[in-house]
Amino acid sequence: MAKQIGILTAGGDSPGLNAAIRGVGKTGQNFYGMSVIGFKDGFRGLVENRTVRLDGGCLSGILTVGGTVLGTSRDKPHKMTVGGKVHDMTDVIVENYEANHLDALVCLGGGGTQKNALRLSQKGLNVITLPKTIDNDVGMTDVTFGFDTALGIATEAIDRLHSTAHSHHRIIVVEIMGHRAGWLTLGSGIAGGADVILIPEIAYDVDIIAEAIRNRVRGGKNFSIVAVAEGAVSKDESAAAEALERRILEATEKKERRTHKAELVELEKKRSGHTLRLSQQLEELTGLEARVTILGHLQRGGTPSAADRLLATRLGSACADLVEQGVYGVMVAARGEGAEAVPLEQVAGNRKLIPPGHPWIECARRVGTNLGD
Ligand code: F6P
Repeated sequence: MAKQIGILTAGGDSPGLNAAIRGVGKTGQNFYGMSVIGFKDGFRGLVENRTVRLDGGCLSGILTVGGTVLGTSRDKPHKMTVGGKVHDMTDVIVENYEANHLDALVCLGGGGTQKNALRLSQKGLNVITLPKTIDNDVGMTDVTFGFDTALGIATEAIDRLHSTAHSHHRIIVVEIMGHRAGWLTLGSGIAGGADVILIPEIAYDVDIIAEAIRNRVRGGKNFSIVAVAEGAVSKDESAAAEALERRILEATEKKERRTHKAELVELEKKRSGHTLRLSQQLEELTGLEARVTILGHLQRGGTPSAADRLLATRLGSACADLVEQGVYGVMVAARGEGAEAVPLEQVAGNRKLIPPGHPWIECARRVGTNLGD
């Protein structure tokens, strides 16, 4: 009998989501005669049973459209605010899965979604996921869709900032998305020729950055572009975070009841303003004028690149094949030109950071880019 599948998109939106929905839906319908429904707004729509039919008509004309036609949210099945209180809504999800006579639930999302999908899979649902995020930090896949588009947007921004930095003899500090992983900052920083690239994986020393900028001035270049990830940290901040982690661990081992909440909030507050602080410090240390540009959600909006449409379509299509074969509890990972089913246990909680000595780091250093260390 032809299968019935449900699709949802969860977490931050990302270019290529509609291409992936279309890839799953069209392959499922055209090749296997499946019926496809969508749940609105991520796991919340699944809890509230808000569905849309995704038949041929709805899937046409969405390939090139940004965002997600299904809507998304950051709600988690096991910790959802309902009526002002946080509840575990997993059982409601199981009921709605059954009420819709689903054979499989397809979840399109990043790291958080992979963890949520694993929980649902452990509850007995047939779950299959696709890896999306502009951060490119989902483990066990070569790449995530959304990354290529954001890379293009951030690179174009750096290109444009170059000419104005040059005209005004300024430092321009450009903040690029990525709280834990620096793929987007490093990739666009290399492609756009940033002079300094700061990523969460390498703690920076502001004096070293200032010296690199002063060196450029001595060489006749009195402007600089500093590409900094949202989550980049100075060596001092990194040491403070490590010390706090150690204290929390010790307190847990000693079974102390202290939560360290105030210290965590204070640390987060310091981190959130780091780009502005960095710009001010560089101004003081170099005597050059500095300006900050925060790219923010621009990086997630608009038409997906050709590479993302292609990736999302082929992963979506491979997903429909796996549903037909009854392969569940897996993420459809990009592997070379093909796709591979990876068990969710190996994906959930497995954040892909840039490893030390990664070729991108090495080539940035070789062309003279300062990485703040
Ligand atoms: O995970 C993708 C991402 O765009 C991150 O790079 C960024 O830190 C975060 O989402 C922003 O989330 P929100 O859209 O909830 O502000």
